[in-house]
Amino acid sequence: MRTQVGIVGAGPAGLMLSQLLHLAGIESIVLEARARREIEATVRAGVLEQGTVDLLDSIGLGVRLHREGFVHHGIELRYDGRGHRIDLSAHAGGKAITVYAQHEVIKDLVAARLACGGRIVFGAAGVEPRGFDTDAPSLHYSADGVAQVLACDFIAGCDGYHGVCRSAVPQGACHEFSRSYPFGWFGILAEAAPSSAELVYTHHPRGFALVSTRSPTIQRLYFQCDPHENVDAWDDARIWSELRARLATRDGWAPVEGPVLQKNVVGMRSFVCEPMQFGRLYLAGDAAHIVPPTGAKGLNLAIADVRMLAAALAEHYRSGNGPRLAAYSSTALRRVWKAQRFSWFMTSLLHRFPGATAYEQRLQLADLDYVTGSDAAQSSLAENYVGLPFEDATC
Ligand code: FAD
Ligand code: DHB
Repeated sequence: MRTQVGIVGAGPAGLMLSQLLHLAGIESIVLEARARREIEATVRAGVLEQGTVDLLDSIGLGVRLHREGFVHHGIELRYDGRGHRIDLSAHAGGKAITVYAQHEVIKDLVAARLACGGRIVFGAAGVEPRGFDTDAPSLHYSADGVAQVLACDFIAGCDGYHGVCRSAVPQGACHEFSRSYPFGWFGILAEAAPSSAELVYTHHPRGFALVSTRSPTIQRLYFQCDPHENVDAWDDARIWSELRARLATRDGWAPVEGPVLQKNVVGMRSFVCEPMQFGRLYLAGDAAHIVPPTGAKGLNLAIADVRMLAAALAEHYRSGNGPRLAAYSSTALRRVWKAQRFSWFMTSLLHRFPGATAYEQRLQLADLDYVTGSDAAQSSLAENYVGLPFEDATC
């Protein structure tokens, strides 16, 4: 088998890359380890930046998103029992965010790829990128127990943080920068009406809590927990009691409660691999970098990477060369590091840090007071939250 771009991973990065390449007349095949029903059911992100929504619109994938998603023009920062609204649109040139679940984006992208005759190999086992330091890279894998080789011009490693592409890079070629946090997020889906018209990010002495949403009947909430927390130790009553305690305001606000349909714990980590290119292997999305979820940047950054990569590959195939492909890693990393900074900032602003001194706790409250009281600070937060502009408008 042969294709122009062999893509590993059918997450948001791999699927969007495949669709953008198709629209530019470039062939690709996506190899995905999991089954279609599994990738379409994994509950993860929910916040789409304006640029992500605009890109989905521009390729005709905005219909369901606009019908079922929720446009939010602001968020609330809550601490000391009081809420402070940040008007995102007023501070970021009219831009907004859309709350639409990541697995719905995945469903839309899979449907679009298949409708265009695109190939996604689900259940691809033992994927191994080879020869990416030569002009003849290939992906070795097995499907239904039969060994296969996919020859290609380029390999796109879109296989997430635990994927095989980054680990195929020779030791020493990749410089890794990382920070881990001494807490995780306990996330729930609950059958309940929305508690709030906008997302609520809460700082509380018991720890961070976040109110988000999914639909008029399903809500998404998170609270800071031990990274090794056992979900089975938390029944519905305990979960709601903890959320009520953290989210309470002086004027008696309380979340709308309902049966917890799903619960899980995710760890928090910041990670960057530099560079994002090794010969003919290009990394994109979580395969190259991870952010803690507080800034809602991971999915959006994955989409931003492949938007740049697709434009660079299109230029390469059009002109036989072109400067963009060689510049992909450095161009992408500039955006990656700004998202790292913002995600670290939001995480530091809002979480309880075990072992923080009284002085550090006062600084954190001063930071919250500053952000919610300063127009300049709100503009900075809003500009980053809705998504920084792209350096190259033609990407
Ligand atoms: P992934 O989504 O991880 O996709 C990688 C794919 O590759 C997977 O389907 C995997 O099965 C496949 N794969 C892995 N290994 C192999 C292999 N060896 N062979 C073949 N296939 C393989 N981001 C936001 O922007 N906004 C948010 O609101 C937000 N909230 C989040 C909340 C939570 C609780 C979590 C956990 C994450 C959140 N994120 C958010 C982050 C976001 O979910 C990720 O950044 C995003 O999924 C990255 O997409 P990706 O395509 O790079 O990788
Ligand atoms: C959601 C996830 C986030 O990481 C975030 O910052 C806001 C909302 C969500 O899943 O809805």
